[in-house]
Amino acid sequence: MKTLEIPREGRAPSQILIGAGAVAELARLVPAGRRLFVVTDPHLAEAYAELLAPYHKIIIGLGEEHKTLSTVEQIHTELIAAGADRSSYLVGFGGGIVTDITGFVASTYMRGVGFGFVATSLLAQVDASVGGKNGVNLGGYKNMVGVFNQPDFVLCDVALLDTLPRREFVAGLAEVVKSAVIGDAELFEILERTAVDELLANKELLSEVVARTVSVKARIVEADEREGGVRRLLNLGHTVAHAIEKCSRRWVHGEAVAIGMNYIGRAAQRAEVSDAQTTERIVALLSRLGLPTECEIPMSELTVALRKDKKGSAGCIHVVFPCAIGRCEVRTMTYSELDSLLLG
Ligand SMILES: NC(=O)c1ccc[n+]([C@@H]2O[C@H](COP(=O)([O-])OP(=O)(O)OC[C@H]3O[C@@H](n4cnc5c(N)ncnc54)[C@H](O)[C@@H]3O)[C@@H](O)[C@H]2O)c1
Ligand SMILES: [Zn+2]
Repeated sequence: MKTLEIPREGRAPSQILIGAGAVAELARLVPAGRRLFVVTDPHLAEAYAELLAPYHKIIIGLGEEHKTLSTVEQIHTELIAAGADRSSYLVGFGGGIVTDITGFVASTYMRGVGFGFVATSLLAQVDASVGGKNGVNLGGYKNMVGVFNQPDFVLCDVALLDTLPRREFVAGLAEVVKSAVIGDAELFEILERTAVDELLANKELLSEVVARTVSVKARIVEADEREGGVRRLLNLGHTVAHAIEKCSRRWVHGEAVAIGMNYIGRAAQRAEVSDAQTTERIVALLSRLGLPTECEIPMSELTVALRKDKKGSAGCIHVVFPCAIGRCEVRTMTYSELDSLLLG
């Protein structure tokens, strides 16, 4: 088992445990004598019925359209009905939707109760559950309402990924590639010589890949918990990805990120901060892993959609350019400047 820690001001660090069988640590990590409520979704409640049998479960709806304040209210209401008090403890057992909502609910129920996560999708293990951002969507905008609050622990049990649909697993790999491009060239090389089936079969290797990806994020979050600077690096590929997700429901998030990394790589070449070889290596790896790198939406439509991304401010946008494998930089520019780099 690998353990990583993210410091928390005035509190014990947030612990991230990575490895096959990590979920067995749950009983040890929930503080003794606390009433435990497990928030999960119907897929996980069914696939892990036996594992979750001892717990009081609160089951939320599936999909991004349920990551809303009304689901938060539904959980608050269930907690009140069950007599949960300030000493109660919440565990989010699921993908990024479950962990984002659970973190938000735990931070607001009675002004805050203790919480931890069992991250069950690859995306949640390497990204969503780590870093302390918990929020919900509002009025068509993603993650518009939320808090920064680190969980006490995150369990990244790679054995749980065996039941994850393959498309979701591969989509999670896009975030792994993203982190490798941001800050771990060796991880990028590991991925270049590993097939998806090999990763699924070799839990040691998969744990190493998850741990390295989490380390990249943990390092960045430690340096900039509230996204004033380097944390923006984690948005590599995401400016375009959010625009793709606005225009089409065809692509899941990780797939949109893969396409976004290609498009922003090409823009970086035009801005002369990157070269064709870097973009081609990224594109070749994404394709090998079974991820898309192009989409049907015209660039002119995407440039309109990306102006609606909440991350832009005062007519300017922070754009993350991949400069080399393992090194990215954030450039602040106007939307028109970005448009011309994307449109070519
Ligand atoms: N807080 C953050 O910093 C952060 C970062 C990245 C993404 N996110 C959020 O994460 C969300 C996406 O997360 P996601 O991709 O995990 O989506 P998700 O939670 O919808 O999970 C994807 C699908 O896989 C299923 N699933 C998950 N684990 C499974 C398992 N082990 N076995 C079988 N099925 C399983 C789920 O039921 C769901 O159908 C988005 O809302 C995104 O905004 C948050
Ligand atoms: Zn993402």
